[in-house]
Amino acid sequence: MKTQAITDNFQEAQVDALAVAVFKDEKPSSGLLKELDKLTGGNIASVIKTEEFTGESGDTAYFLFEPKGKIKASRLLLVGVGDRAEYKASDVSVLAGTAARNLQKRNIRSFALAPRADGDLSETATNAAAGVVTSQFELDKYKTSDKNKKAIDNFVLYVEGAKEKDLKDALNRGEIVGDSMNFARDLANEPPNILHPTEMAKRAEKMAKEVGLKCEILDEKQMEKLGMGSLLSVSIGSDQPAKLIVLKYEPKKSTGKKGELLALVGKGITFDTGGISIKPAENMDAMKYDMSGGATVIGTMRAIGLLKPTVPVLGIVAAVENMPDGKATRPSDVVTASNGKTIEILNTDAEGRLVLADAVVYAENQGATKIVDMATLTGAVIIALGDLNTAILGNDQELVDEIIECGKEAGENFWQLPIGKEYSKMIKSDIADIKNIGGGRKAGTIIGAVFIEEFIKDAKWAHLDIAGTAWADDAKPHRSKGPTAIAVRTLLKLVEKSQ
Ligand code: BES
Ligand code: ZN
Ligand code: ZN
Repeated sequence: MKTQAITDNFQEAQVDALAVAVFKDEKPSSGLLKELDKLTGGNIASVIKTEEFTGESGDTAYFLFEPKGKIKASRLLLVGVGDRAEYKASDVSVLAGTAARNLQKRNIRSFALAPRADGDLSETATNAAAGVVTSQFELDKYKTSDKNKKAIDNFVLYVEGAKEKDLKDALNRGEIVGDSMNFARDLANEPPNILHPTEMAKRAEKMAKEVGLKCEILDEKQMEKLGMGSLLSVSIGSDQPAKLIVLKYEPKKSTGKKGELLALVGKGITFDTGGISIKPAENMDAMKYDMSGGATVIGTMRAIGLLKPTVPVLGIVAAVENMPDGKATRPSDVVTASNGKTIEILNTDAEGRLVLADAVVYAENQGATKIVDMATLTGAVIIALGDLNTAILGNDQELVDEIIECGKEAGENFWQLPIGKEYSKMIKSDIADIKNIGGGRKAGTIIGAVFIEEFIKDAKWAHLDIAGTAWADDAKPHRSKGPTAIAVRTLLKLVEKSQ
């Protein structure tokens, strides 16, 4: 996709269509809207008058008009963005995605957007480009017919009063963010016969080479040597060997606090059958997305490799398949993790926490002082928060607050759940140090988190349960259904702010 930034003469942009943000109950009585209204022979005023279009967020209206003089475009799309007072930079990516998908479906390939946002102009530009890029993702990779061939290939952003160079840099950053999100979404969408742990590791390795990250893949032998009995207890029932994917970004010049190292750790269960505690057949297919936490780590690291922040970041993915088999772990087996803790496995379907246990120990041994893990860990979080909020839990309130704040800026919602001694008591085992489930169905998401907490030594730690937010069951005007690459944007903000 070609991108361009312009700072004046929006109407004269060399594109097929113009798209403009319109606020709720706004009238075309002045400024840009008035000019565009003239261009369309008063069509904007009439759709607003008849309340065909009210400017409510997601509302759209589309017109054809006769281009005159220097004007090339012959189509105009109005996109509602809701209340002017509540309009934020993060809404721009939804706006841009909505415009792009709407026009793309009409087989329009080039458009200019006037987002009309105040505030940080480069943030506006980054979000606009990311919104257009992510809007283009479709689930049709494996279709041999009915493939979508329509696409936006030229995007022009109009921001009055900005410097073209700043906008252009910001647009480039947005493309990196959008492409990296799509990279993560492609991984999460892959069928599990194609994306097994070895393939996931290969893709991470190839990506690392392309963007200049260091990459190390630990195989089962190496993991055995490190005593990762918890992680390996999950992979033992599968013919697919587990891989621990380790991605490292080191800046040329570091500006962060000395000795501080952020690690992003992802659950990468490429398919979760439940193991011997096997899941029911209905909806088991959804469990190909059980590596979404790992996909978020890989996508975020890709963006980091290209954006080159001035702080180091470590990315770790525990890529494992959870299958039932003659060799598989039995409920009641006891295993020892790499920090020496013993675990009584009472449900082999609570496998995410088992692989994350050894992965966070590894992260801390590599020098991580801050760990953010993400995982499609519990069905319980979907009951609690649906698909609108990601649960966040952690041992350091400052880090939790920081992530929630970054989420607000990135347009991703987090909701904190508590942890604490009383919850930790619920995973005490009769015969080992801890067990991998609590009692019954109580506090399922919290139990998952306090289990992982047992493997954190000194690091500040936050856990994101993305089971409800990593996959969208329905399409939205700005994006297809399917994998969402949740948390990529929030984590990039977190990295940006720690510079
Ligand atoms: N991958 C699942 C979590 C999940 C379940 C995500 C349903 C989306 C929909 C995880 O490995 C799992 O099976 N968790 C169990 C834990 C239980 C056995 C304590 C769950 O949530 O049921
Ligand atoms: Zn499971
Ligand atoms: Zn799982």
